[in-house]
Amino acid sequence: MADSGSVNTGKRATSEDDDTSAGKRQRKTVRVWCDGCYDLVHFGHANSLRQAKLMGDYLIVGVHSDAEIMKHKGPPVINERERYAMVRAIKWVDEVIEDAPYVTEIETLDKYNCDFCVHGNDITLDADGNDTYRKVKAAGRYKECQRTAGISTTDLVGRMLLLTKTHHLAGHDVPSGSDKGSENPSCSSMGSPYTGVSQFLPTTRKIIQFAGGKEPAPGDTILYCPGAFDLFHLGHVAFLKEAKKLGNFLIVGLHTDKEVNRYHGGNYPIMNLHERTLSALACRYVDEVVIGAPSVTTGELLDHFKVNLVVQGMTHIHPVADGIDPYEEPKKRGILKFVDSKSDLSTAKIVARIIENRIRFQQRNKKKEEKELRMIQLLERRRSEDLARRKSEELQKLEAREQGKPETVEEVFD
Ligand code: CTP
Ligand code: C5P
Repeated sequence: MADSGSVNTGKRATSEDDDTSAGKRQRKTVRVWCDGCYDLVHFGHANSLRQAKLMGDYLIVGVHSDAEIMKHKGPPVINERERYAMVRAIKWVDEVIEDAPYVTEIETLDKYNCDFCVHGNDITLDADGNDTYRKVKAAGRYKECQRTAGISTTDLVGRMLLLTKTHHLAGHDVPSGSDKGSENPSCSSMGSPYTGVSQFLPTTRKIIQFAGGKEPAPGDTILYCPGAFDLFHLGHVAFLKEAKKLGNFLIVGLHTDKEVNRYHGGNYPIMNLHERTLSALACRYVDEVVIGAPSVTTGELLDHFKVNLVVQGMTHIHPVADGIDPYEEPKKRGILKFVDSKSDLSTAKIVARIIENRIRFQQRNKKKEEKELRMIQLLERRRSEDLARRKSEELQKLEAREQGKPETVEEVFD
């Protein structure tokens, strides 16, 4: 079962009244099913789950095992234990089903009493190149949500392998999707609109959709957790879960891209500040995010947010550029607490895993994108054949009308 955190789950999008005139008859709970790999889980995945939750009341997410992903798509970057836990930490998720089948079965929806399945408007193919949702589509138990453009596991892997910095924020010109795609060896040169690389365009609407909008209640213990939170991973989730036990309103302070780059170097952060904001907001333990927190936790910041405790994990604390202790003020106030996430996962370790398996991931991504492109071409061919057929039927009808011949079967027997 999922962690049952107190979360802003959003209400079902309906204008119907829940009560009858008799007053008390409750409408049926709508149970929604989603499934997927959720590899290197990102805010695109979270956004699909947010939309799915809005289509019903209770959201169940089936996550595929490593073996199942290996069979249909190639090796996952993140192992199943970590993927299951990451999906559980997303605030719109009510329950996670481990080792869900790759091809969505009617029996699975029935087993978990789900009304329908929701998936993004992209194509997911099994090992044989067939649509994994064909059975639920045929049964009329399939609904689509809007895929988040500009973010994919493949894109993130590409950033790590290429050490690109184009994703950083600082008013740089961002190359067009095709420019970036052509330099990316993890993608085929043709560029699928799903797996291919493009740029995520953050909007205030998206932030509003992700934010709980909750304010601290009087008497709440307000926690402040600063850091990079890059590639938001299980170490961060374990840390935030422990931190949340110390209070009831948790604020994450996200360092700027420039600051993270100063202390990590290379092309870090892998995810820019806007992307890290959405990842943090999707986590069930997070109530608020400071978008671009100062590297030094100042008295001004602590007073502004009425922070009761500053919480830090057991990992290395990066000194500020001029050697200042970033926690000098919280230490002086006696409000700095350390918690042990019991996880040694780090962004650098994930990057190392990807680099070690570089060839396998490149092959996997290339294969996935080529399969998507073949399917897109096939669908386009079918669409134009369909159009041509309809045009020729119209033409025949027109000719028949002009010659006074019957146009329909009914007219023949009239
Ligand atoms: N999804 C989405 N937006 C994205 C990426 C994924 O809405 N940018 C959705 C998919 O449409 C699907 C769910 O997240 O409904 C789970 O996706 P997953 O099985 O992990 O597959 P991929 O689409 O392959 O994810 P990625 O492109 O990141 O590899
Ligand atoms: O390294 P980063 O700045 O992203 O870490 C943010 C917070 O998460 C820090 O307090 C860090 O100690 C904590 N963390 C942790 N365990 C991990 C990774 C990070 O406690 N494995």
